[in-house]
Amino acid sequence: MRKELRKAIIAGNWKMNKTRPEAATLINEIKPLMQNNGCEVVVCVPFTALVAAVEAVKDTGIRVGAQNVHFEASGAFTGEISAAMLKEIGAEYVIIGHSERRQYFGETDETVNKRTKSALSGGLIPIVCVGELLWEREANITEEVVSRQIKLAFAGIDAADAAKIVIAYEPVWAIGTGVTATNEQAQEACKLIRDRLAALYGKPVADSVTIQYGGSMNAANAAELLAKEDVDGGLIGGASLKAADFGVIIKAAAS
Ligand code: PGA
Repeated sequence: MRKELRKAIIAGNWKMNKTRPEAATLINEIKPLMQNNGCEVVVCVPFTALVAAVEAVKDTGIRVGAQNVHFEASGAFTGEISAAMLKEIGAEYVIIGHSERRQYFGETDETVNKRTKSALSGGLIPIVCVGELLWEREANITEEVVSRQIKLAFAGIDAADAAKIVIAYEPVWAIGTGVTATNEQAQEACKLIRDRLAALYGKPVADSVTIQYGGSMNAANAAELLAKEDVDGGLIGGASLKAADFGVIIKAAAS
């Protein structure tokens, strides 16, 4: 039982939602729902709302993250944002390789690896997303797919840096669909990821890494998912936009 060694992290992925005033309002609604329980709470907001979010979370313990980061430090990369730019405005986390970026914006295992390295060297905590498509699960290659994503995301990253990374297991078929993985499916995949990390870096590192589940996690199912031995937190989309629901999930991470 190593669960107590790991930091529980509940992160909201706001995706392309919320203007600056709306972001401040939602954060103000989340504030009173914070539990003093050692669970880290993160809101990953659109780039344009980062400054407003950093301002709004002052003295609350809530952390702010971005939803993507470029892998170069600067240069001719129109439309991109560097790790140093995010760090400078007070972001602490960054989501990398979300399935929507893999599906719609040409994100590959190689760019996930490059972005992860740039986040680490820029002092940001990467939340690296992995997960299989529905037809991959149906073809019984979930293990193969997730193992490959992990191996490539961590390529060339040493153990000290690997220990800083948060992984989000998000089965693509469960994202935004209302279909959640069963507690057993979530546990099985998170355990598989931990085993892969143990093979790459040894058990102490694997035991220390926070692995989140994501995909239609909500106020009703969070407690059961988070009770699983290898599920250390959640990456929450839809339910993170409703303060009351997000508050229930934060509370569930306490027990
Ligand atoms: P969802 O999204 O909670 O709305 O399914 C999760 C995610 O995409 O990170």
